[in-house]
Amino acid sequence: MRKPLLAGNWKMNTNLQESLQLAVDLNKLVGQVHDRDILVCPPFTALNSVADALRGSVIMVGGQNLHWEGKGAFTGEVSAQMLKSVGASYVLIGHSERRQYFGETDETVNKKLFAAIKHNLHAIVCVGETLSQREKNETLSVIEQQIKNGLKELSVVSCQLLVVAYEPVWAIGTGKTATPEQAQEVHAYIRKLLADLFGKDAAEQIRILYGGSVTPENIQELMAQPDIDGGLVGGASLKADSFAKIVKY
Ligand code: PGA
Repeated sequence: MRKPLLAGNWKMNTNLQESLQLAVDLNKLVGQVHDRDILVCPPFTALNSVADALRGSVIMVGGQNLHWEGKGAFTGEVSAQMLKSVGASYVLIGHSERRQYFGETDETVNKKLFAAIKHNLHAIVCVGETLSQREKNETLSVIEQQIKNGLKELSVVSCQLLVVAYEPVWAIGTGKTATPEQAQEVHAYIRKLLADLFGKDAAEQIRILYGGSVTPENIQELMAQPDIDGGLVGGASLKADSFAKIVKY
């Protein structure tokens, strides 16, 4: 059985005070929830404080990005070791906004994935097609490339730290959610690709999250799909009450 994972991606929102408030408010609402994993990914500037505030709670903390090198002359970057040192246990990799605005490719995703795993961070690797790719019927081939290249040479042992997030680019921040059937089709395809790479048993253990305009209203029907194991939530994770409703779907 895959334990559901509900992850909040705060993106470039919330200053330090707002981050702490959100963390504390959320903890009051979901502090007793034990049958699913709960994760928040605040901006780097708040990671340490949020992790401190949530230490000992059920809510885990993750970074939104990392660099593959451990340290050095890489101005503006943050390494896996640095994330670990402030209490992060997860990291997002290859979010579509990073691919779109910051030049991330499947190759950099792959390097980041190896860096995360080397330091025992759970990695949430994000994949998803754009609207024009969907309209050209390229969704599954785009996903296949992203999975095969992004996860290249990952071992069966290491894939225990892997989570995949399917986030159709056209559904992110737009209020347009994929229908549960559209999402399930891609999730099932991703699981098949994972089975080809790691074997059926390992693929059955890997959680595949859906992301893109997840709300308290649509989470339940998404979670009812057999291959949807959780959500990666942007906008609706910025309010404690709406994210708490999503967590408790
Ligand atoms: P959204 O963002 O929930 O605001 O659509 C999801 C994401 O980008 O992870």
